[in-house]
Amino acid sequence: MGKGQPKFLIMEYQNILSVLKDQILYITINREHKLNALNKATLSELADVIKFAESKDEVRGVLITGSGLKAFVAGADISEFSSFDTQQGEALARAGQENVFNAIERCTKPVIAAINGWALGGGLELAMACHIRIASDNAKLGLPEVMLGLIPGYGGTQRLAGLVGKGRAIEMIVTAEAITASRAEQIGLVNYVVTQAELLSKAEELLGKIKQRAPLALAAAIRSVNAAGTSGINGYEIEINEFGKCFDTDDFKEGVSAFLEKRTPLFSGK
Ligand code: COA
Repeated sequence: MGKGQPKFLIMEYQNILSVLKDQILYITINREHKLNALNKATLSELADVIKFAESKDEVRGVLITGSGLKAFVAGADISEFSSFDTQQGEALARAGQENVFNAIERCTKPVIAAINGWALGGGLELAMACHIRIASDNAKLGLPEVMLGLIPGYGGTQRLAGLVGKGRAIEMIVTAEAITASRAEQIGLVNYVVTQAELLSKAEELLGKIKQRAPLALAAAIRSVNAAGTSGINGYEIEINEFGKCFDTDDFKEGVSAFLEKRTPLFSGK
């Protein structure tokens, strides 16, 4: 945004609020009356806004939260799939995974979930697709799908096992019990637990640091870490390749010059 233009950009959506301010894209799921449950329209807006985040150089980091004090996201919107059959169920999971959950995980700008209350089903899956999770101390996290005769379909079985190990993942999924924020921190499901009042400022503190780092190196780091534990992919090879590519960037030259000249680097993302 150039001189004379507003310092923030509001994007118009029906189910989410999206504001770009000081290089951070704030996304708030805004269906408080339904505990921010993810209906089709919300998922489509999320897919759109993540594309925007990916494509805009001004966006250096993303913060996703839920509106209100009660819920981050209480799951996929149950009312929308009550009469689905196998094909429709598969299509729902496939489209959601590809367009939203995988897109968030692959986003080359760090994405932080600020979990401000219930994170259930698709809500916890959304948080797990983000790169970093911070929970408020009132948050409860769980995958209760088996209570509906379902299993998680937005990557939950895979990402939960990756974050907390198979044993704990299976326990959470088969008991359908939600866990507290402090238990989630203990088992590595969230990075930090803070009070609800401190939730956004903790996320902004991390994003403030992230904004000062070399954007292309952040993207390379995310691609490399995402390769960890992905079957059929040699993550070490990805890392070697990404490491090598960093040397051709202006940011590498700037980072090294700044170090040698004992000054703060100013990265261009080139
Ligand atoms: N899908 C659709 N609507 C949902 C929803 C979901 N996943 N979660 C909550 N809602 C709706 C409720 O139907 C209710 O709508 P209404 O006021 O029109 O009846 C509104 O959000 C408030 O929820 P309510 O259940 O009244 O709040 P609560 O404080 O009593 O309970 C929860 C909170 C989170 C325990 C409860 O809403 C719940 O169990 N939600 C479903 C969680 C789930 O199974 N998620 C996985 C889906 S795959």
